[in-house]
Amino acid sequence: MTGLSTPYYLLDETRLRRNLEIIQQVRQTAGAKVVLALKCFSTWCVFPLMREYLDGTTSSSLLEARLGHEQFGKEVHAFSVGFSRQDILGVREFADKVIFNSISQLRQHVDEVRGLKLGLRVNPGVSCSHYDLADPARRYSRLGVSDLGAIMAVAPLLSGVMFHFNCENDDLENLRRNLEHISQAYGTLLARLEWVSLGGGLAFTKPGYPVTAFCTLLRDFASRHHVQVYLEPGEAAITHTAELVTTVLDVVQNEIPIAIVDASVEAHLLDHLIYRTQPQVAAPGPGPHQVMIAGRSCLAGDVFGTFALDTVLQPDCEVRIADAAGYSMVKKNWFNGLPMPSICVRRLDGRVETVRTFGYEDYVASLS
Ligand SMILES: Cc1ncc(COP(=O)(O)O)c(C=O)c1O
Repeated sequence: MTGLSTPYYLLDETRLRRNLEIIQQVRQTAGAKVVLALKCFSTWCVFPLMREYLDGTTSSSLLEARLGHEQFGKEVHAFSVGFSRQDILGVREFADKVIFNSISQLRQHVDEVRGLKLGLRVNPGVSCSHYDLADPARRYSRLGVSDLGAIMAVAPLLSGVMFHFNCENDDLENLRRNLEHISQAYGTLLARLEWVSLGGGLAFTKPGYPVTAFCTLLRDFASRHHVQVYLEPGEAAITHTAELVTTVLDVVQNEIPIAIVDASVEAHLLDHLIYRTQPQVAAPGPGPHQVMIAGRSCLAGDVFGTFALDTVLQPDCEVRIADAAGYSMVKKNWFNGLPMPSICVRRLDGRVETVRTFGYEDYVASLS
């Protein structure tokens, strides 16, 4: 117990540093540059620590590009599925590289971004994703260009390309096969370029991942094509670094005990609802007591999951939901006017700091 009022997200810098040290190893051993994908994690109060281990940030919008520039520093990659002219005029103030999603976007904006390094997203037609929703190679995908002939026609405008084709991929052999495909299909293009981003979605900070072999694979790819390789991890950088700390408000019975906590899946851990996955409970620990843990929004399916715990949950019990950083904090919302979890950080010296609390003023300011 920390005495802080729940709900809050608790980021742990010591755990974060563990991921960052693996990233450092990849940078040093493979010679890859690594930029943080802000779409996954934008909680800038821990950027001072992250900046020591990363080369910069990559963004999906003008606002993220600006955040990367102002709060992180170092390199800023600016990608968007669709830039407006207004976006481009803003982005060019902050970005080192602008990466377009299509040839038409590149042609539309090329005059406004002369002098910057330009890239194009290439869709290699292969991917590794456990979810159709997140599969960039799905039928009718709008994400990136596949046609080599069309890309070669604009290659003189480009210094690099970005392939994002993985999602939570922890299978190195699958990556090896897909890189082989990319080498064969796009080798003539890569020969003209300075840099290649392999995107995000690689689970290389997961315990047991063959990091040394991964580094060899990346180094070989870079030297075969004479390019600077970039990685854009989101999840791999922050996986298992945060908890959503909640308090049980009520326990109701409907065939099974259902503990209602002072947070919500829909408002505070939305990705679990979108992908229909179940988070893990970090505390209480595992045991014989079955309980469903549910959120307090009005949504019938606002359910964290059913768990077997070592404690019989009662009002005032603390429940910690594990792995609450990636794609959660960036997606939190004001549904039902529920209290927005505070942001707390356990610093490297063990001190827990409440960095941000939210109140009625923030709720009101989010609409008008
Ligand atoms: C272009 C691009 N780069 C990087 C990422 C980060 O992926 P992850 O958080 O799975 O590492 C994504 C995620 O969707 C992406 O679309």
